[in-house]
Amino acid sequence: MAKVRKAVIPAAGMGTRFLPATKAIAKEMLPIVNKPSIQLIVEEAAASGIEEVIVITGRGKTEIVDHFDAHPQLEETLRRAGKEALLREVILPSQMVKIATARQQRPLGLGHAILCARHLVGDEPFAVFLPDDLVDAVRPCARQLIDVFESTGKSVVALMNVPREETSAYGIAAGTLDAKDPRIVHVHTMVEKPPVDDAPSTLAIVGRYVLDPSVFSYLTRTNPGRGDEIQLTDALAAMMVERGLCGYLFEGNRFDAGDVTGYLLANLNWARRVPRIWAAIEQYVAAHPGSSRR
Ligand code: G1P
Repeated sequence: MAKVRKAVIPAAGMGTRFLPATKAIAKEMLPIVNKPSIQLIVEEAAASGIEEVIVITGRGKTEIVDHFDAHPQLEETLRRAGKEALLREVILPSQMVKIATARQQRPLGLGHAILCARHLVGDEPFAVFLPDDLVDAVRPCARQLIDVFESTGKSVVALMNVPREETSAYGIAAGTLDAKDPRIVHVHTMVEKPPVDDAPSTLAIVGRYVLDPSVFSYLTRTNPGRGDEIQLTDALAAMMVERGLCGYLFEGNRFDAGDVTGYLLANLNWARRVPRIWAAIEQYVAAHPGSSRR
């Protein structure tokens, strides 16, 4: 079976949930502690064995590409100043994976964004990372999915259980649990953001996928769906009927960094790893119990 070497990161969205912060800044560049959130995504991709990342961009997103490029002038300044640790941090993003870009010219939906990468992906399986979804896991979430893809030969979507009242915010999948591995779901139903009363389960699709390249031909035949956009979930539902599809109840904590609360929680989660910062946060919380009105 072909190795999963490539990943697509659709990053053309406007970030309306984060306005006004995202009026002039790509939401993917907002930092989690001291790294743009999209760097955590690319780090997960590299740690999962991905060698080439295709970023789908749109207007105002060139800073993402700059971040993953070398910056000789800055590197030289840091080198001359003897700031070796910072220098390594600055160089790292340009060395993790090979980066390619494709442009989504119109906001026609997630499915359409993925289709924009078709010529760069070619005829091999690939991963998709939605940059709003940050997953903190011991074994990278995408690696967990790639292992399932390699053992089952079927496309895989990441799943997590959500409260029923939240089902209308996600693609929802339903299916039967695998007899041997209770984290694998053999999916038989998929629907994008169903009304709560119609949700076929409480299993939400999280933004990690490993897909067979045949998904592109399903995408070309997918009509606009929810929100009048070409939905990846709809193409996957058609693919599932003919080729089968697995869900995987991944291990790890997921944060919705496209939402202000989820973003702040993600910052707290990653700040815990930096003793100096975490000590300051604990001190602040201890000194300011309860909520603040100012
Ligand atoms: C997208 C997908 C949806 C999935 C969600 C996960 O929706 O369309 O199926 O559940 O990501 O974050 P979005 O939140 O981009 O509207």
